Amino acid sequence: MEALPSLADDGLATPLVGEWAEEKYQLVSCYAQVFARSMKNAWQRRICIDLFSGSGRAKLRDSHRIVPASPLLMLGITDPFDRYIFSDIDETNLTALRSRVDREFSTRDVQYVPGDSNANVSKILRLIPPYSKDCRVLTFCFVDPFNVGNLKFETIKQLAAGKRRIDFLVLIPSGMDAQRNTRHDNTLYAEFIDNHSWRKDWGDLGDLEQRRRGFGNFFVDQFGSAMERIGFNWGGVPSTRVIKNENNSPIYHLAFFSRADIASRFWDDCKRYTMPQATLPFMRG
Ligand SMILES: C[S@@+](CC[C@H](N)C(=O)[O-])C[C@H]1O[C@@H](n2cnc3c(N)ncnc32)[C@H](O)[C@@H]1O
Repeated sequence: MEALPSLADDGLATPLVGEWAEEKYQLVSCYAQVFARSMKNAWQRRICIDLFSGSGRAKLRDSHRIVPASPLLMLGITDPFDRYIFSDIDETNLTALRSRVDREFSTRDVQYVPGDSNANVSKILRLIPPYSKDCRVLTFCFVDPFNVGNLKFETIKQLAAGKRRIDFLVLIPSGMDAQRNTRHDNTLYAEFIDNHSWRKDWGDLGDLEQRRRGFGNFFVDQFGSAMERIGFNWGGVPSTRVIKNENNSPIYHLAFFSRADIASRFWDDCKRYTMPQATLPFMRG
């Protein structure tokens, strides 16, 4: 897959991110594109949520390239969604995002929900039109937290409740955060993976199995199992894309969840079409 375009500085908030973020952006952009295009004739309304939307651009730390980030990438697809819902706790980010959307995508239906996405889930839900026989509504939700503390599984449960048709692409902080803080963040971990006895489950694996699987994979599988309990397909850790940092250490797993079998085929296609991180900026010219 082609590298993302390099943009000139527009003076608005542009958070610094690791080079690895480009792989995440390519995957979310690919999935949003395939999803929106494939579903446009079968559904009356296609809704896109970016639960942790950021400012719309990011600056890659080593190459200093400024690239479009998830909300602008998902707005820029052909066959765009009928409505976009962006939420972020950081006012500066959301202000920058609004300016960029007004400048580049002024004709799209874009709704903003400032503040904590977990606390504001009912406001987000009110922006998704109700599903009915005559108005079939399909939603795609990108969930891109910085760390385990940003997301409560309860938020996913509420978004997925009832008859709502919704798919999720979730960046699970399985590397640094999960491993560094296991001793302290009992409740945050429990709330992210919806399992208050995760520590016992981890302990029950025994030393050998713990070493074989690693905590990151255990954590991802716990999240996947929680999704399975609310009716989503879970293909296990091998169905995810591991995102590694510059030192080749896994830091996140990008995991896809749908209740429809066809959707995981789109995800498999995107994993194939996006280039591995090893070919990113360091390798170019
Ligand atoms: C990893 S960044 C993702 C940004 C964006 N998806 C992108 O592609 O650039 C996480 C974002 O989540 C926001 N955030 C953190 N905790 C949040 C919360 N509880 N509710 C809403 N936004 C939050 C941060 O301000 C930050 O912009």
